Amino acid sequence: MIHLLSVDSTNDYILREDYPSGTVIWADSQTAGRGRGDHRFASPEGGIYFSCLLKDLSFEEALLLTPKAAVAVCMALEDICGLSPRIKWVNDVLLEGKKVCGILCEHYEDRYVAGIGININGNDLPGDLRGIAAGIGDGLSAEIPKEKIIVRISDILLSPMSADTVREEYGRRLSVAGRYVSFTYDGKEKTGVAAGINENCNLLVDTPEGRIALSSGEITLL
Ligand code: BTN
Repeated sequence: MIHLLSVDSTNDYILREDYPSGTVIWADSQTAGRGRGDHRFASPEGGIYFSCLLKDLSFEEALLLTPKAAVAVCMALEDICGLSPRIKWVNDVLLEGKKVCGILCEHYEDRYVAGIGININGNDLPGDLRGIAAGIGDGLSAEIPKEKIIVRISDILLSPMSADTVREEYGRRLSVAGRYVSFTYDGKEKTGVAAGINENCNLLVDTPEGRIALSSGEITLL
């Protein structure tokens, strides 16, 4: 594991050089932390920001890397911190309905990177995020063992997990099943009831026009 004080983005850093599979880059802060789409990921000192490099993934492993990363984050927070996180499809980890972790999986040729950002202290976050985001340390008196969490998540990511197990563990923690959601599909705003996930961890939504499988994008819980 390479630990840096500050970096632009751990995902960009790890893809700039040809590191071996299993390399983990951890930074105390990021100056240009990236989220999905064009979003920035606020990365002030105090949080956990790291990227884990994986090579030689099968097609299915690559397809399920984001859900597996969400499962790995949940397992680590459950085991190490005694928390009960939930997953908001597709890749946000929530505590009490607020986002505490974002995941950005990317690839360049045969190199895959799982980038994970975990908020520790909600008060460190920019003001506009406070209503929707929180930290895993909020309300906990004990110090959060950052390195232990990173090592546990990376170990899970780098260990084999069958596709069935990924789907099972992911589905079990999904916060949206049975909820009304809105989303954009084919350029149109739609609403429906989230029914669960399919074999690719796509979100199944029952709309007045029928069932839609969402493979990417953002949903809003109504
Ligand atoms: C999201 O919520 O849209 C995804 C956020 C992912 C943030 C992590 S922090 C470590 C890694 N480096 C980045 O620039 N982004 C990811």
